[in-house]
Amino acid sequence: MACPYPFGEPVKLELAPEYARLRAAGVISRIAMPHGGEAWLATRHDHVRTVLSDPRFSRAATVGRDMPRTAPALKTDVDLRKLDPPEHTRLRRLISHEFSSHRVAGLVDRIQSTADELVDRMTALDPPVDLVQHFALALPISTICEILGVPADDRKKFQSWSDRSLLMGESGHDEVRSAREELKRYLLDITRRRNPGLLGALLRDERGGLTEEEVVIFGSLLLVAGYENTACEISNFICLLFSHQHLREQVLADPTLIPDLVEELLRFTPLLSAASFARLATEDVRLGDVLIAAGDAVVIQLAAPNRDPSIFDSPDELVLGRRSNSHLAFGYGPHYCLGAELARAQLRIAIGTLFTRLPDLRPAGSLAGIPFKKGRLIRGPESLMVTW
Ligand code: HEM
Repeated sequence: MACPYPFGEPVKLELAPEYARLRAAGVISRIAMPHGGEAWLATRHDHVRTVLSDPRFSRAATVGRDMPRTAPALKTDVDLRKLDPPEHTRLRRLISHEFSSHRVAGLVDRIQSTADELVDRMTALDPPVDLVQHFALALPISTICEILGVPADDRKKFQSWSDRSLLMGESGHDEVRSAREELKRYLLDITRRRNPGLLGALLRDERGGLTEEEVVIFGSLLLVAGYENTACEISNFICLLFSHQHLREQVLADPTLIPDLVEELLRFTPLLSAASFARLATEDVRLGDVLIAAGDAVVIQLAAPNRDPSIFDSPDELVLGRRSNSHLAFGYGPHYCLGAELARAQLRIAIGTLFTRLPDLRPAGSLAGIPFKKGRLIRGPESLMVTW
């Protein structure tokens, strides 16, 4: 019988024990989702990698179907995330160079000076100050706005559209749709104007042959994907480091450990509150002992493989100095996060800057009292009042 899903709403960054139980049982499990019926839930590291990389599990086949999901039905645009190769490969190539390690290396100084400016402005205020508003949201929005050629002055508008477009509950339905439409109208307007960033370049690039509408769909994907995940992870990581003082001391003594720490935090933090990334089997596929029939949906909660004890020693502990850290926080296969290098650069700079500039940074109240967002697909603190 299918197991009712999700396994309750997470309060903070804890991972429901059901994932470990299902993973230990070793099989792909049948779950009943709140919308769209039943799906298979993959929890083991090897199973998840197969679902994310085997072409028999399709993203394109999910378009226009009543797929099993936690959020209510949405008629969304078909962006990169809902295409399969070769169309996916063609479109992704149009922008992948903009997010390569080489390009990101060229952005590091700019991201660092934005982070420094934000800390300067924050420390000019009387503590306690909300780190979410003054730092965690501000850093990724100004980075992605700069890449896309969106005026940074408009970042408050983006924050509101992005926040509203990620609401999960039934009640959020109309709001989600209207936020997405407003965002697209705005992007269309700035793309038509002389746009110095990636959006203008995409429209002018004749090889790509993208229409205005397609450029705008690209733009809203990059804005929402590039901003919300990174902003929430900055605040989540800071919360976790507040309760793991020894890790913080280790990286303060040796900042070359920061990249390692960021990878470990990415592995450890369950960023999404529920399984998503649905794929549809286009033919029968055997995964372990289970036969996934053609037409069946498979969903994934990346936090589960990231705690797989067959891959990671002491998986439920935050540990510095793992020999290898093959976490799946950025996915795997053709849809592997396009912005992974950009996200890494921002997370490293955020942690390094906050803790070296403010070595005594601490929560203004109790750790237990930090309020986390509710009813959202992406987890993170609602606010994080800090002092230093
Ligand atoms: C900590 C921050 C981030 C995390 C944890 C994250 C995570 C992910 C994951 C797990 C996927 C794969 C989804 C799937 O397989 O269906 C993905 C895809 C994607 N991400 Fe990120 N991401 C982050 C930051 C960013 C940034 C900064 C950008 C900016 C450009 C970005 C852009 C994208 C895009 C465009 C895709 C779709 C790729 C495709 O379908 O080919 N992400 N991300």
